[in-house]
Amino acid sequence: MTIGSILILPGDGIGPEVMAEVRKIIDWFADRRSIAFDVSEDLVGGAAYDAYGTPLADKTMDKAQSVDAVLLGAVGGPKYDQLDFSVKPERGLLRLRKEMDLFANLRPAQCFDALADFSSLKRDLVAGLDIMIVRELTSGIYFGEPRGIFEENGERVGINTQRYTESEIDRVARAAFDLARKRDGRVCSMEKANVMESGILWREVVQKVHDEDYPDVELSHMYADAGGMQLVRAPKQFDVIVTDNLFGDLLSDVAAMLTGSLGMLPSASLGAPMDNGRPKAMYEPVHGSAPDIAGQNKANPIACILSFSMALRYSFDLGAEADRLDAAIERVLAEGKRTADLLGQPGVQPVSTSEMGDAIVAALDASL
Ligand code: IPM
Ligand code: MG
Repeated sequence: MTIGSILILPGDGIGPEVMAEVRKIIDWFADRRSIAFDVSEDLVGGAAYDAYGTPLADKTMDKAQSVDAVLLGAVGGPKYDQLDFSVKPERGLLRLRKEMDLFANLRPAQCFDALADFSSLKRDLVAGLDIMIVRELTSGIYFGEPRGIFEENGERVGINTQRYTESEIDRVARAAFDLARKRDGRVCSMEKANVMESGILWREVVQKVHDEDYPDVELSHMYADAGGMQLVRAPKQFDVIVTDNLFGDLLSDVAAMLTGSLGMLPSASLGAPMDNGRPKAMYEPVHGSAPDIAGQNKANPIACILSFSMALRYSFDLGAEADRLDAAIERVLAEGKRTADLLGQPGVQPVSTSEMGDAIVAALDASL
């Protein structure tokens, strides 16, 4: 008896090696907790291009639409830099997000106590940090038309279009308010209403959704540039941040670095509920494919493992088991185990990707 289906898409660069550690965790839950998934695996990104001539084959897309959750590693690498835009590895990822309509991208930035000294900010500014960025993921300038490189008056012009409908803003605002209710009850919405019409509409719609249906949540608005500044000045002032696709891309990288390493940050991309009540969902680490360290058993698998923890929580309603996994990771970090991205103190030997995965499995054993 499996409790649900998972499609694993390891992708490129360090994707396959960090995903191998997630496999160990999935196996642990099957063996020790009788929580078994129907797991399948396929290619995405450059790996898919090499095998199928496209960064996401139609049959992989169909499979992704039919499972409860997709776990994705990372896409891209220098080998694919010269490819035509339409078949670049990133197009595979963007197609998954768009066709599954995963409009709400949850990017938590939590600072593990054992890692507070790795932040680029002072310890007291980040210790205990727990913010959630909700990034709109299926619209805005990433997808708006017209787009392209055109000829105009004898020179080329590059065009992208920022575009948001009321309903697109409405649904992501609701996702943010719903999350805030389960957290500290505060939402800060970020846009550039001072220079962009799409920002004016964004602010209006978020305010309207709030006033009509979420008056119990505290709502504030900030220009996205000021938001970036506040994130590095006093990050703990935030609970939930809701913002558009491009600002969310930038601000989530900033927030990630506050926590010490990009190697620690998971994400969940959620869409509308499917027939079985579970949301369409894809989970992926925020870090990229890190081609410089790929294949060396050096990468930090924690972001990818935490992404699986988010799958337990948001797709399978197994919050207690997600807590167990998060606690196991916290314990391994508290014991002083560090992958190379988390080294600071002289004399500390890094553990490898697979040693980190084994240590987390051992900490899970100890949790029983
Ligand atoms: C992210 C990444 C992607 C994005 C790239 C790989 C297309 O930076 O998930 O943040 O820009 O959305
Ligand atoms: Mg990004």
